Amino acid sequence: MNYQVVFFTRTGHSKRVAEKISEGLNAPMIEINDHKHWKGIIGYIRAGFYSTVDKKVDITLSEPIDETKDIILVVPLWAGGVAPAARAFFRSYKQDRIHLVVTSIGSRVKDRTSYLSVTDIVKRDGNEDEKIAHLLNICKNNQTI
Ligand SMILES: Cc1cc2nc3c(=O)[nH]c(=O)nc-3n(C[C@H](O)[C@H](O)[C@H](O)COP(=O)(O)O)c2cc1C
Repeated sequence: MNYQVVFFTRTGHSKRVAEKISEGLNAPMIEINDHKHWKGIIGYIRAGFYSTVDKKVDITLSEPIDETKDIILVVPLWAGGVAPAARAFFRSYKQDRIHLVVTSIGSRVKDRTSYLSVTDIVKRDGNEDEKIAHLLNICKNNQTI
């Protein structure tokens, strides 16, 4: 199976993780843009609000999705759920073709159903590279968990 690494980032952590996965699988990277201003303290508060009330955003992708490839989606956790940009992505691309990777400070994503796999990259755990290596093995062996 060939892969494409799709990511959304506010402060760069998810992009860094996406780059490592992209290198490990020799897979292209595609960035999600939700055209919102999430920077600074106001942006942070707005981001938490959007995520908590499940407010919709519209997204564009830096490259079109290749329908022949599975997707590795790398996104941040916002207020206990994936960022709204990821939820917008799910409106077009179903979970059963997505390996989900969620970056966070300390918590894990709760909704883990239907994905090919779910990987939590939790800063507090300090095991980013081990988690990525595990995911790369899953992808290279074409497994689901
Ligand atoms: C609005 C908002 C809410 C967040 N909520 C959580 C949370 O509930 N649990 C957690 O562990 N981290 C939370 N974080 C931290 C981010 O998930 C973490 O810093 C992530 O790796 C950032 O990814 P990025 O740099 O790709 O944007 C939150 C960050 C933001 C901006």
